[in-house]
Amino acid sequence: MKMLNVSQRRHHANEKSADGNHVVFSQVEKSYDGATHVVKSLSLAVRRGEFLTLLGPSGSGKTTTLMMLAGFEAPTAGTISIDGVNLTTTPPHKRGIGMVFQNYALFPHMSIADNVAFPLAARKTPRNEIGRRVSQALEMVKMRNFASRRPAQLSGGQQQRIALARALVFEPALVLMDEPLGALDKQLREHMQTEIRHLHKMLGVTVVYVTHDQDEALAMSDRVAIFNNGMIEQIGEPAEIYESPNTEFVSRFVGDNNLLDGVVDECYASSSGDYRAKVTHGGCQFEALTAKPLVSGTRVSVVLRPERVSIAAHDTDFENRVNSEIIESTYFGDHVRLTCRIPSGNDIAVKVANTSGLGSLRSGQTLPIGWRSVDSRALLAAGGQG
Ligand SMILES: Nc1ncnc2c1ncn2[C@@H]1O[C@H](COP(=O)(O)OP(=O)(O)OP(=O)(O)O)[C@@H](O)[C@H]1O
Ligand SMILES: [Mg+2]
Repeated sequence: MKMLNVSQRRHHANEKSADGNHVVFSQVEKSYDGATHVVKSLSLAVRRGEFLTLLGPSGSGKTTTLMMLAGFEAPTAGTISIDGVNLTTTPPHKRGIGMVFQNYALFPHMSIADNVAFPLAARKTPRNEIGRRVSQALEMVKMRNFASRRPAQLSGGQQQRIALARALVFEPALVLMDEPLGALDKQLREHMQTEIRHLHKMLGVTVVYVTHDQDEALAMSDRVAIFNNGMIEQIGEPAEIYESPNTEFVSRFVGDNNLLDGVVDECYASSSGDYRAKVTHGGCQFEALTAKPLVSGTRVSVVLRPERVSIAAHDTDFENRVNSEIIESTYFGDHVRLTCRIPSGNDIAVKVANTSGLGSLRSGQTLPIGWRSVDSRALLAAGGQG
């Protein structure tokens, strides 16, 4: 196999960047015990300069995927290439990848400056060059005044910034981050999300980011890959993942969703060029979007976001209207969340923006609710076609 150093690889990248892919996983599999596969036939192309997030439940294979890309774990089958070069057997330190892990793992006995200098020293960078780059990296994360401190003398968020500086100091073209903000409180977390996003834009590096926080994934990423049980269930831009989940799993995992199980009565092509399914659910009929025509009798879940349900159900825009009883009403300041029981006995969560004139919404009250067909989707029920 051809071995390239970082600058050769960059040069190579420029020649090979015609397809815009930076990293390509091709049919990658991983088993730790030789029996169960924790990553199954993973094919994934990471575009140059994009911010791609791997999002999925615990144990779905996100860290394993990152570890294989970093070179700390070897795939059981398949190949991983960076800039078109197969790196499957290249050791981690020769891959030119910057990394930030959840337990930032700063060296406790070293000063902040020495921590940040470490990747440069390991690459035999000249001393004066090291000094210059360390200052730059510390400046970038606004930590220049902390250079002579020890990690233990910094807060969690400050340590996280140093970990970022250390990952970026040798100007890698690819940076991997595994739950880097997991240990921080909500406010600091949101602040660091913005900073990481800015750094990504400013430096133009490719970032592969792992989180199991869906809000973080939607807010930060160019694209999100939803992992489930060692496979990518869906990959797309945040709005696409949120608005058009392809599977029940994705619709449950990303954001709040109501799921109403039912059976397709009929399906037709609408004048706007999409397909609509009429679905019977507990004696009611609802109409929903569907990605492809479904035959009558197909078992589906109709998914519907709480913020797409309206309590102004007299509005004629709503193809779907039903009477409900308010079971619970919770005040959240900017919105009110209702649990509305419909005649099928199912509860629908409704998120109502707290605008002026909202009036009272008390449990026990009867409330007509409605939603547009295009705001709900009929997905094949988990367990397949019935
Ligand atoms: N070194 C290892 N040896 C054996 N099994 C492992 C090893 N590392 C991970 N696993 C198993 O592989 C599966 C995937 O683990 P992985 O750490 O990739 O999940 P994850 O998606 O990162 O989860 P989390 O969100 O909890 O970090 C899990 O079932 C885990 O127990
Ligand atoms: Mg993990």
